[in-house]
Amino acid sequence: MTNGIILKTKEFVQSKLKTAEAGHDWFHVERVWKNARLILENETANIMVVELAALLHDIADSKFHDGDEELGPRITRSFLSSLHLEETTIAHVCNIIKNMSFKASLGKIEFWSKELEIVQDADRLDAIGAIGIARAFNYGGYKNRSMYDPAIKPKENQSKEEYKNTTAPTINHFYEKLLLLKDKMNTETGKRLAESRHQYMLDFLHQFFNEWEGKQ
Ligand code: ADP
Ligand code: NI
Repeated sequence: MTNGIILKTKEFVQSKLKTAEAGHDWFHVERVWKNARLILENETANIMVVELAALLHDIADSKFHDGDEELGPRITRSFLSSLHLEETTIAHVCNIIKNMSFKASLGKIEFWSKELEIVQDADRLDAIGAIGIARAFNYGGYKNRSMYDPAIKPKENQSKEEYKNTTAPTINHFYEKLLLLKDKMNTETGKRLAESRHQYMLDFLHQFFNEWEGKQ
């Protein structure tokens, strides 16, 4: 059951993300929301906070707003205030949005909660498996990257700047980020869901390299 607050939030996000690029469009948000609800079936948490944060988590990605990491939480706060939600709920959702990016997980963590863990897991699930593969090649194509180049090896432990400005082939992204996500899952349920999506990427890579070498 989707209650009135969730429904209004859904409509707000849908209209805000009408012109968003494919990696962070409404359908990404909708999948993260669905993943979060799937995780909630087996985890105890504040359902309203999780659903609101899942819906609002990419409302203003700092990558597309001159690195302004406050914009998303600001839009979120003003929208949720207009719905007259309790301050504790608003503050919690804003804290999740501020702290859950991959970037934040590389350092400077200021806030933590079970609800954040669930939304972060839900977002990470959308970066792996079949959807994760599709998103990676979509992103690589948009950036005009090659699919694969045997001479360009994946880099471990890249700095934030290196990661952001890489021009490496898309296959490298699997080794630099996507295959590492399984072990970063927070919740038991998230870990379990990540397993099969992870295996699917391994199978894909195996097949990709076979075909690259002209094998069956
Ligand atoms: P998120 O919004 O989940 O923090 P990003 O904005 O870093 O993730 O990436 C959005 C999507 O684009 C993800 O599916 C991610 O795997 C993909 N992506 C990001 N960087 C690269 C890259 N260098 N090569 C291929 N895909 C990428
Ligand atoms: Ni996201």
